[in-house]
Amino acid sequence: MSAAQVTVVTGAASGIGRATAARLAARGDRVVLSDLPSEALTAAADECGGAAIAADVTDEADTARLARAAVEAYGRIDALVHCAGIEEEFVDAHEMPLDVFERTMRVNVTGTFLVARAIGARMVAQESGSVVLLGSILSQVGYGGNAAYTASKGAVLQLGRALAVDWARHGVRVNVVGPGPVATPMSQGTIDDPVRGAWLRERIPLGRPATAEEIASVCAFLTSEESSYVTGAYVPVDGGWLSL
Ligand SMILES: NC(=O)c1ccc[n+]([C@@H]2O[C@H](COP(=O)([O-])OP(=O)(O)OC[C@H]3O[C@@H](n4cnc5c(N)ncnc54)[C@H](O)[C@@H]3O)[C@@H](O)[C@H]2O)c1
Repeated sequence: MSAAQVTVVTGAASGIGRATAARLAARGDRVVLSDLPSEALTAAADECGGAAIAADVTDEADTARLARAAVEAYGRIDALVHCAGIEEEFVDAHEMPLDVFERTMRVNVTGTFLVARAIGARMVAQESGSVVLLGSILSQVGYGGNAAYTASKGAVLQLGRALAVDWARHGVRVNVVGPGPVATPMSQGTIDDPVRGAWLRERIPLGRPATAEEIASVCAFLTSEESSYVTGAYVPVDGGWLSL
């Protein structure tokens, strides 16, 4: 891929997606930023000189329109970093409402499938591309009060592996990044909570949550030629969480 590769980033209005879009724009990618419609999305796109295309990842027509609009804007799609996701309130599984479970699976799993399929089809047709999915350390291990999110991230990891196998012969790589706690709006409540935040810092071998930029830099590597022989990998970026 050339330095001016075209990269789509979902969840780009906030957190890891926003940091990734900024990082990739700074290295010269032409970036398409996508998220639910918001002023934050427009601001993020303005900030890094990219194109904003609003789309709900749970909507099949929206994901098809996202892929089409990105190709119309820039002629091709070389890379995808799929950061859109949700994590709802913490509640033990026996008290978890069905709608929380279904909504989480819909956004995190079905949404990942729809975006990857729409954009992956373009990459398969052009015989090259790199897809990065956002899993979690919870793709691998459990965590209290978080059954829906944990199940969804396990599924994202397996979906990523399946896509990697399907698309390898078409020159398309697929990898899954597994962050531990990251200081973004999704986790800020936990990080700032005196009890849960202190427990997290104690639990993480490096002693602190990641910054969004520390996840973005790994996404940058996985969407560059530097990682040309890496596919089907699960890459923890967790300050050592999974090693303890
Ligand atoms: N923050 C963490 O501690 C952490 C840890 C591990 C994994 N992750 C994963 O990293 C990814 C990014 O998380 P983040 O921390 O940046 O969270 P965030 O809440 O800051 O950003 C997530 C973005 O996804 C968007 N989004 C949600 N539903 C959407 C939908 N239906 N369609 C389109 N966009 C939608 C939101 O609008 C938001 O801008 C997520 O998949 C998350 O599960 C985060």
